[in-house]
Amino acid sequence: MYYPTTRPRRLRSSANMRRLVREHHLRVDDLIYPLFVTAGSQIKTPVQSMPGVYNLSLDLLLPEVEKTVQLGIPGILLFGIPETKDQVGSGAYDPNGVVQQAVRAIKDKYPELLVVTDVCLCEYTDHGHCGIVRDGTVLNDPTLELLARTALSHAQNGADIVAPSDMMDGRVQAIREALDESGYEETPVMSYSVKYCSAFYGPFREAAGSAPQFGDRKTYQMDPPNVREALREAEQDIAEGADILIVKPAMAYMDIIAAVRKNFLLPVAAYNVSGEYAMVKAAAQMGWIDEQKITMEMLSGLKRAGADIIITYHAPDAARWLQE
Ligand code: PBG
Repeated sequence: MYYPTTRPRRLRSSANMRRLVREHHLRVDDLIYPLFVTAGSQIKTPVQSMPGVYNLSLDLLLPEVEKTVQLGIPGILLFGIPETKDQVGSGAYDPNGVVQQAVRAIKDKYPELLVVTDVCLCEYTDHGHCGIVRDGTVLNDPTLELLARTALSHAQNGADIVAPSDMMDGRVQAIREALDESGYEETPVMSYSVKYCSAFYGPFREAAGSAPQFGDRKTYQMDPPNVREALREAEQDIAEGADILIVKPAMAYMDIIAAVRKNFLLPVAAYNVSGEYAMVKAAAQMGWIDEQKITMEMLSGLKRAGADIIITYHAPDAARWLQE
């Protein structure tokens, strides 16, 4: 039966009617807010390409965390910017590293807040790659041990979830084993399972000073046109013990979010990355788009695609807009 008997517009006639038949809901519960913590004190360096995002020293990070808690956001994702970098990224697994100190302080003050830590070497290596480099090649297996040490040291300092973002093969297994051996078998791994080699990370690399000093990340991050490979990556991570699967970036990869949702049973997190945030901010500053409406439309689109969790720099704004 079709028009004129059926009229889809009947169910769009008023705000309450639309509420009643709405299929997907963005909630503050879905959000994770990424934060950058830098060594030192009294530091608040704006990230030029990400208005509203700062590199914060721990003393100034804590008030930002406080705001996040007040807004009811369940978790933050922590990135560290160390004072010095070296060939093997030793700042990443330094027991007194910038993230380790920050996690301790944050969990001390806000024990309920979920602190997720990004596990990677690129912010800590002088060459900017996510692993050990020899003769211009990023080595897989020797990197695993360092990633496992990094994840373990985050857990030892109180991280609730560890999130490896390096894209080395076997890193979930290496991390899972290291955690289990030391009594952290209850600490979940939120794996960046499906992470593409994307130009959308540009602003993040400015924020974290983590751009590769030579070459690119194409030998470890995924090739953007691939779909089946995404499912293989997710399958492998699940077999290695991942608890939550991240798809990253989000907006240009909504088909991938949907495919991962359809094929696997684990919670799926969409990472609405720095470049996506920067584009919205830039167009909004030009007065070309409505930031609030565009952001909420994008975030609900990610829910519709199948994301359970959304990692976004817009998290505090979205939380506020949801309260309105
Ligand atoms: C570290 C890492 C990156 C991002 C998250 N973890 C950068 C990269 O892989 O180059 C990007 C996040 C963003 O763009 O918002 N490997």
